[in-house]
Amino acid sequence: MAFASFKEVLLDGLKNGYAVGQFNMNNLEFTKAIVEAANEEKSPVILGCSEGAIKYMGIDYTVAMARVAAETAKVPVILHLDHGPSFEYVVKCVRAGFSSIMIDASHYALEQNIALTKQVVELCHPLGIEVEGELGRIGGTEDDLTVDELDATLALPAEALRLVEETGIDALAPAIGSAHGVYVGTPKLSFDRLEEIRDLLSNVPMVLHGGSGIPDADIRKAISLGVSKINVNTENQIAFTHTIREIFNKDAKVYDPRKYLGPGKEAIKEVVKEKMRLFGSSGRA
Ligand code: G3H
Ligand code: ZN
Repeated sequence: MAFASFKEVLLDGLKNGYAVGQFNMNNLEFTKAIVEAANEEKSPVILGCSEGAIKYMGIDYTVAMARVAAETAKVPVILHLDHGPSFEYVVKCVRAGFSSIMIDASHYALEQNIALTKQVVELCHPLGIEVEGELGRIGGTEDDLTVDELDATLALPAEALRLVEETGIDALAPAIGSAHGVYVGTPKLSFDRLEEIRDLLSNVPMVLHGGSGIPDADIRKAISLGVSKINVNTENQIAFTHTIREIFNKDAKVYDPRKYLGPGKEAIKEVVKEKMRLFGSSGRA
């Protein structure tokens, strides 16, 4: 199959009360694990890729791997730029073959966020490429960017309405207290804020970033309040690395990469499958 439509997949989730997982690609093992899990779970899936991961893998290798994954999959697969940093970078990803785009202008003041996000939508929509925007600041570390707790801010409902109406974005990632990376303590999501935003924008799929480490009950509640895309990367990274570390600890002589990368890949696959069941996307493709 060719890449699927971001908007169609998310709107189906919104209509039917489930969320589609965005799992980040970090290398070939992640890519294969994510798409194999999606096939086995019969779930649509979003391969997310940030600027840092694209730099690591090379943009052409990234798109080629995702394309082969999509073409051989029996389920809808999307290749989504995660936290796109600028208009120029979005152009680069569109040219390379990404099928949907996130522009993260959340560190700018609202007017500037709207202006840049709108510019990206105007570039992408005529090409059939759908766009996710972000509002408020999500804490934690993503790539090389760290937003500490004091700088993390929740999205304001009136601003969310303006961002959506004035830009035409297809999905909104409102900051509601989640964070990237490993949580220190229990995450505290603001469901009140999520609900207020949902009440203003009930037809717009919402995205929950920092999906690793959030308790299952909170994930279910977020989905019930209109979240239809959930991003997970850290839990997969941890599963992959722990598995490989255990193999190294047990066998100091291992040298064939397939002997540890293979089990690392299987560990990612298990996490992804569990998330798909939790998000309710299993059996939806
Ligand atoms: O955009 C990527 C995700 O928000 C990753 O979140 O660090 O909780 O896995 P995570
Ligand atoms: Zn994120």
